[in-house]
Amino acid sequence: MAQIVGAYFTSHVPAIGGAIHRGDEQTPYWKPFFDGFPPVQEWLGKVKPDVAVVFSNDHGLNFFLDSMPTFAVGAAPHYHNADEGWGLPLYPSFVGHPELSWHIIETLLEEEFDPVTCQQMLVDHAVSIPFALAYPKCEPWPLKLVPIGINTVQHPLPSAKRCLALGRAVHKALASWAGNERIVVVGTGGLSHQLDGERAGFMNPDYDRFVLDHLVNDPEAIIKDSIHEIVRLAGTQGVEVLNWIAARGALGPSANEIHRNYHVPISNTAAATVVYEPA
Ligand code: DHB
Ligand code: FE
Repeated sequence: MAQIVGAYFTSHVPAIGGAIHRGDEQTPYWKPFFDGFPPVQEWLGKVKPDVAVVFSNDHGLNFFLDSMPTFAVGAAPHYHNADEGWGLPLYPSFVGHPELSWHIIETLLEEEFDPVTCQQMLVDHAVSIPFALAYPKCEPWPLKLVPIGINTVQHPLPSAKRCLALGRAVHKALASWAGNERIVVVGTGGLSHQLDGERAGFMNPDYDRFVLDHLVNDPEAIIKDSIHEIVRLAGTQGVEVLNWIAARGALGPSANEIHRNYHVPISNTAAATVVYEPA
């Protein structure tokens, strides 16, 4: 019987990869952010997951504006990284878990979701950075990957309510999976940030605190806002909180927060890191 060991959530700002590459983790700018990670690493060392189900958004590496799936599930034997133009090193490839991917896809269809299924998929910084943070200097990655992509990039975007329902349907799939894997759920991106337009540089710690206080046991409070209201509150890229909401759904009905770190800013982003365990 598979076990969901818990979930971690983190921002995925590419500049984090640059800081790791330069060894800047303990410099004054970066330390408050990186200080949030030893507890995540220790927790992963304790719960020892062997597969990660990761909710994130592609930023133009695998999908582009001409063909943008609302929801996409990877079902590939491996997932490679590629140059996104941020000046980052290429990250190690992930080994996939196609059998679990197809079980998730079949469950989603039964639950009336219609995701794009991807037997090839590049993974960008939204997947690589969270693993570089959780498993520093680790090659190969010590766990398999099932990536689930949510469109947070090109409108119309899915509602927060729909993303929570997607995550809950994925939970149903994980709970009915016959394998004996130890599964960690991961949500990446956010929290508030806006990279473009008149409000470039916008962050909203009040909204972030609201998200961090409610995600664990009252995600319904967060999904009351329309997607346009979330863009207003979190910023045009802060809508990556949809990934967190879906991941929270996939973790299961009740959870305990066991770690939280929040630091503003990293690059243009209010950066947050949390760990939940199933209650
Ligand atoms: C930044 C944040 C992101 O979420 C991203 O995908 C790219 C850049 C930033 O703050 O620089
Ligand atoms: Fe992003």
